[in-house]
Amino acid sequence: MKKYKVGIVGATGMVGKNFANLLKDHPFFDLTVVAASSKSASKTYREALDIKFGKTEKIPERFHNLLVLDAQKDVKKISSLVDFVFCAIDMEKYKLKKLEEAYAKSECPVISNNSANRWTSDVPMIIPEINSDHSRVIHSQRKRIKTKRGFIAVKPNCSLQCYVPTLHPLLNFKITKVLVCTYQSISGAGKVFNSWPEMIDNVIPYIPDEEEKTEKEPLKIWGKIKNGKIINSKNPSITSQCIRIPVSFGHTSAVFVSFKNKPSLNEILERWKFFKGEAQNLDLPSAPKQFIKYFDDPYRPQINDVRKTEQSMAILTGRLREDKQYDYKFICMSHNTVRGAAGGGILMAELLSKQGFFD
Ligand SMILES: NC(=O)c1ccc[n+]([C@@H]2O[C@H](COP(=O)([O-])OP(=O)(O)OC[C@H]3O[C@@H](n4cnc5c(N)ncnc54)[C@H](OP(=O)(O)O)[C@@H]3O)[C@@H](O)[C@H]2O)c1
Repeated sequence: MKKYKVGIVGATGMVGKNFANLLKDHPFFDLTVVAASSKSASKTYREALDIKFGKTEKIPERFHNLLVLDAQKDVKKISSLVDFVFCAIDMEKYKLKKLEEAYAKSECPVISNNSANRWTSDVPMIIPEINSDHSRVIHSQRKRIKTKRGFIAVKPNCSLQCYVPTLHPLLNFKITKVLVCTYQSISGAGKVFNSWPEMIDNVIPYIPDEEEKTEKEPLKIWGKIKNGKIINSKNPSITSQCIRIPVSFGHTSAVFVSFKNKPSLNEILERWKFFKGEAQNLDLPSAPKQFIKYFDDPYRPQINDVRKTEQSMAILTGRLREDKQYDYKFICMSHNTVRGAAGGGILMAELLSKQGFFD
């Protein structure tokens, strides 16, 4: 199989450096370009990371001497050097929207971790196990932006990546309402404890914009394509609270759910155990073999399990039981910078490459 040349735009960030690590020996993708802000541009990748994170930050040695390009000024150059880019940049939304469009219009597909284009109706927001067919909308997007190869595809927010996968196999029991409380790690804000000492031994009850993303993005993922656009699903009704907790990596959700046709507890466990999506059917390199893993021990899953299971790409659940207000409640977890960011982005790119979108 042809290997595609790829770039990371935002390579010096929390998510960007994770992309570099996950791309070390990738069978489909060859990392040849890294880009970041003008502060990091013209330095080697190793120098830029040393300045930002200290010398302890590990990335594969063969990427150390890549020269960091300027993500904004070098759009044309980067687009000419690679087959597509992964984009994970922290920037104002309207500027980021323009920047991603500039890459796409330069015929360079963008696999984005950012939220700027998530609400564009012909931009697919993909979890490969759930809505792999949404990539079809790329054909309409290309017509709109007048490109042959260029397009933008996005990955949803990290907060919902544990509870949407656990609800998805239960959709045909007709979910009526969901209440979810997310407990999110500090790397979700691009931070480590050294740069955010306020988070040590602390909880912060507010994450800007997070509840809106947590409640609305699932409805696009569960939407249908009509006339070249994704029409969001109208249900289920979702309400959430998103809380920052003092954990370095891994997000947890406490979920309450009700159904029109209430399944038995065993039916839910069976659905989770046997669920496979397109990522597993195509045997994509980053796909977990067991997408949803249930733990019987009431003390698990724990965040440490998330870091150890299936290269941090699986969704872990536990404590499924009946509830007196909702039908059921349970706990689920996923790794925010792997499944919820770089790993999820790479899995989406593997899917799109198999579907022929980078040719
Ligand atoms: N962290 C997560 O768990 C997570 C999960 C899902 C999605 N995301 C999303 O992924 C994106 C990146 O998040 P992060 O946590 O990796 O952020 P981060 O650690 O703050 O990194 C931001 C990156 O953006 C670059 N950048 C900042 N301003 C720029 C500018 N004006 N021009 C060009 N590049 C610029 C930075 O380059 P310099 O180093 O040169 O400043 C750095 O490479 C965000 O949109 C975030 O919402 C994050």
